[in-house]
Amino acid sequence: MPERDAALPAAFFPSTTPVQFSRADFGPDFRWGVSAAAYQTEGAWNLDGKGPSIWDEFVRRPGKIRRRETANVACDFYHRWPQDVDLLQELGIPDFRFSVAWSRVQPQGTGPVNAAGLDFYERLVDGCLERGITPWLTLYHWDLPAELQRRGGWAHRDVVGWFTDYAQHVAARLGDRVTNWMVLNEPMVFVGAGQLLGLHAPGRRSLGGFLASVHHATLAQAEGGRALRAALPAGAQIGTTFSCSYLTPWRPESGRDARALRRADALLNRLFVEPALGLGYPSADLPVLRWLDRYIRPGDEARLPFAFDFLGVQNYTREVVRFSPYVPLAWATLVGAKLRGVPYTQMGWEVYPESLYHMLRQFAAYPNAPRLIVTENGAAFPDPTPQLGCLADPERQAFLQACIGQVLRAKREGIAVDGYFAWSFTDNFEWAEGYEPRFGLVSVDFESQQRTVKDSGRWYQQFLAGKAAAG
Ligand code: NOJ
Repeated sequence: MPERDAALPAAFFPSTTPVQFSRADFGPDFRWGVSAAAYQTEGAWNLDGKGPSIWDEFVRRPGKIRRRETANVACDFYHRWPQDVDLLQELGIPDFRFSVAWSRVQPQGTGPVNAAGLDFYERLVDGCLERGITPWLTLYHWDLPAELQRRGGWAHRDVVGWFTDYAQHVAARLGDRVTNWMVLNEPMVFVGAGQLLGLHAPGRRSLGGFLASVHHATLAQAEGGRALRAALPAGAQIGTTFSCSYLTPWRPESGRDARALRRADALLNRLFVEPALGLGYPSADLPVLRWLDRYIRPGDEARLPFAFDFLGVQNYTREVVRFSPYVPLAWATLVGAKLRGVPYTQMGWEVYPESLYHMLRQFAAYPNAPRLIVTENGAAFPDPTPQLGCLADPERQAFLQACIGQVLRAKREGIAVDGYFAWSFTDNFEWAEGYEPRFGLVSVDFESQQRTVKDSGRWYQQFLAGKAAAG
């Protein structure tokens, strides 16, 4: 059993984590993996017929990305995937989640398929299968073909049809060998940060564009699910993923903070999952969502639900919410970890492993919730330079252990959670934050492309081999 690092604050080891546990406690059917995404790792942004995506364009805009970094090369996964998948095998990681870049498959977003693009993903999938690794495929992890943005992007209703067409192409080619599919990655983040806050591609700041995109992404989520169901063999598992954070009030006794928390919850945790489950948009708790009506056409409501086989829960932190008179429509703000004086990661996110447990409970509480899979969870900490092939990352290792412990806590309470994927396999391009935040279980030297497994990755390897316990 690894020793608890006395140098780390108690937040890394919540007392609610089961005292000691090992892989066997999760049962033989529990899925264990790591996650990655096309734009963050592949590089090769313009090779073999790939068209530009909104991220390829966004990174060129001054002031948008820290240190003006781009993912033109990133981890060079496009060329190095065989070694990386070898490493997955060496580490004994049985499941690998990655995404397909739409603009590799359809360079213009619609129309002819680029055979070389689908060939790449076919080689990757086959490479996983040959090594006994199960591929988990996400259709959309934020890299919309740039040409579609010129036609209106997510704010244009036609995106639903463009997306289902793309989904069909991928399913037709890979459906005979990929069993596990995810439609969208974190719609609240790509719509919120991309259309309302201007922090992610395409960098828009418009309430109308945001609301239109919310509705179109929610439609695409369900229609994408239906397109996959129609195209895939029986037994295919179709899910979609959601960002979420456990919310607590700034002042527990304040009614205004409690109401602000309800609005924040509707926006951050419920907006995309509830329509999928047939509950409609959470407008009762966030009145501005009534303006979605402008974009809802007759017949749309019946198209919003889809019977997903699993929901992907993606959690990194909790948020503390307080009432704010300065944030119109939401009337709520998040009180950052720095201000609260609690331990935080390179992203400024509070170290709070119990958030994952609470979010699993919240998602499982929906009466018709399918099974849950933690499709992302992780933490960014600065890493020392590797020494003789070793790299000590006690914070990340402790965080990983504590979060897995919180999954077990939920599971022991009867919550149907069936898998855990760490974010991320390797260090990679963290969107507007560039390469500085390090999320990987494996470090990448972006000069030499050298990979070094961190202690957290070694611990995961031991844990998966049944040789390490935690707690
Ligand atoms: C969620 C996103 O899906 C992923 O792309 C990102 O790198 C992580 N969160 C960390 O911010």
